[in-house]
Parts: sequence; C-alpha cells; structure tokens
Amino acid sequence: MQTFIENIPKAELHVHLEGTLEPELSFALAKKNHIELAYDSPEALVAAYDFHDLPSFLTIYYAGMSVLVDEADFYQLTYAYLSKARSQEIIYAELFFDPQAHTTRGVDFETVITGIHKAQLAAEQNLGIKSQLIMCFLRDMSAESAKQHLEMAQPYLDWIIGVGLDSDERNNPPIKFADVFAKAKSMGLKLTMHCDVNQLNTQTHIEQCINTIEVDRIDHGINSLESEELCELIKDKKLGLTVCPVSNRFVVQSLTSNEIHKMLKKEMLVTINSDDPAYFRAYLNENLFELQKEGQFSEAQITTMVGNAFKVAWLDDETKKGYLQQLENYTRQYQ
Ligand code: ADE
Ligand code: ZN
Repeated sequence: MQTFIENIPKAELHVHLEGTLEPELSFALAKKNHIELAYDSPEALVAAYDFHDLPSFLTIYYAGMSVLVDEADFYQLTYAYLSKARSQEIIYAELFFDPQAHTTRGVDFETVITGIHKAQLAAEQNLGIKSQLIMCFLRDMSAESAKQHLEMAQPYLDWIIGVGLDSDERNNPPIKFADVFAKAKSMGLKLTMHCDVNQLNTQTHIEQCINTIEVDRIDHGINSLESEELCELIKDKKLGLTVCPVSNRFVVQSLTSNEIHKMLKKEMLVTINSDDPAYFRAYLNENLFELQKEGQFSEAQITTMVGNAFKVAWLDDETKKGYLQQLENYTRQYQ
C-alpha cells in the first residue's frame, strides 16, 4: 500500500504556499534578510509549533511569513514546494497564496506574485509539474481590503485561475465577501472558500458558499455531512471538497477518516490535501499514509480520491482526460 500511494500520479488542490515554508528555509531567509528569529535553530522553531485550534495555528503561520521579503524569496518558497510535490508524484497542483499577509507588511503585490509565477514556470519546465495559482482573501480583514487586492490583481489575471477565502472563520461568514466574489466571477475567475471544520455556524456558512456565492469548490467542508440537504446540494452541483486530514488532526484533533468514508459512500467528490505541510509536518503522501492506516482505505478508494482531484481541478476537459488516463495506466498494473 505504501508503494501504491507513493507512486500513484496525483493532484493537490489545497495547499497554502506560505504554509510550505520549511524551518530550514525560514532560517536561511532570515539570515539573508537580516531578520532576527526568536529561536536558535530550525529544531527549536518546530518545537514551538504549539497549535491546537485554527486561531493558535494562524498566529504562528502569520508570524512565520516575516522572512519572505523579496521576489527571490517567493520564488524559492514556491520552487521548493513544487520540487517536493514532484518527488511525491504530484503532477498537478493548485496553489493558494495570501497577498494581504504580505502587503500589510510592506511587501508589494507585484513582488509576491512575480516570484511565485516565475517559479511555477521554471518548475513546469524543469520538473514537469504543472500548477495554477489561487489568490486568497483573508476573511478576518475587511471586504474593502479584499476588493483593493482584487484590483491589484487586474494586471496579472493571466497568472491567476481563481480566488479563495481563508484565515479565521469565526464571525466572518461568506456573505461578508459576496460583492468581491461576484466581481471576481465576472472577471472570469473560479471561486472557492474555506469552510473549516467545526466552526461556529458552519452549516450556514456552507449553505451561503453554495447558494449565495455559488462557489466552484469548497475547502474542507466536512460539516456538510451533518445535513442531508447540504450533501445533496454538493452532489447535485458536483462540488469538490478539499479535505486535509493531518491539518484536521491539529486543529480539531481528528483525521476525519470516518467522515471521509461517509463522503465516499455518498459519492461526494472528496479529495485529500496537505493544507500547510511545513507546519503540520506532512505532505500529501504522509496525509494519505496516515489516513489509510487509520481508516483502512482500499487501493480502489485511494484511487477514487486521487481521481476526484483531477476531476474537480480547474482545467479544461482535454487536460483532465490526459491526467485521468495517466492514473488509469498506473492502477492497471495493480489489477
Ligand atoms: N490559512 C492557512 N491555512 C489555513 C487553514 N487551514 N484554514 C484557514 N486559513 C488558513
Ligand atoms: Zn487551508
């Protein structure tokens, strides 16, 4: 099973680039940029990763970004993730980034997106991993700020496939961003939003995502299982759910393997992802290993989840077909 998981060609649809910042790179960038870190070594930094819920994780996640300053830093961050991903047989990735977490520190939007974009091009050429970029808005900032950042993105629309919504969900419902998401949609961008696990008013948030915002996908979305009506809506609209088991274990103390089984049984389009792999110390393969170990998922079920990721990716049908064929060629050896 381990070899099967390691070698299966995969897609990752829910990974925050800033959440791929490894402690070693953080130290190297701090030194280069003359930034003093509060820890003596990468090991000491990891030892301080003390999170138990979403807010306690986000505090550490935003603090970590202070070492990202110039274009080369964003290039290095992105290239390092894409190299790691390729080594795990990820052949396609959709990458989140959080521009507001950088512009609020005085780093220009252009610096961030140019560094990321150049690394995506280089990784596609050198490593054969294709990727697309999703710009996230921080939901604990204002809708006005989100609107301003969508404006900043105007000259770079060819580099962005969609917009997302992340950060602290408490008291920040999807409808707060209805106007800016409507604008993004009118600009031809795809839409997704985090519906993190066990959040206050989670069912209302999921319902708003689907019926008001009309998202193309939902990030996490585990709590949809509490409502037959929401499950039916998600199935009717063929919405993909990007679930992140190890991340869930950190923020809600559960890998959610039972919930993932339920989604598979209902034929919901569940996919497995790493979220913030450098912080949760698990990339996509490790997420699949842990999940399989706890939930005893079969090779066929793993294949279904990997296939779902290609199916709900924001790609044209021809490209999806090519990836799904690659997946089928792989699984055929095991039959
Ligand atoms: N930003 C980075 N990771 C996140 C997560 N899991 N939930 C919400 N916002 C995030
Ligand atoms: Zn996330």
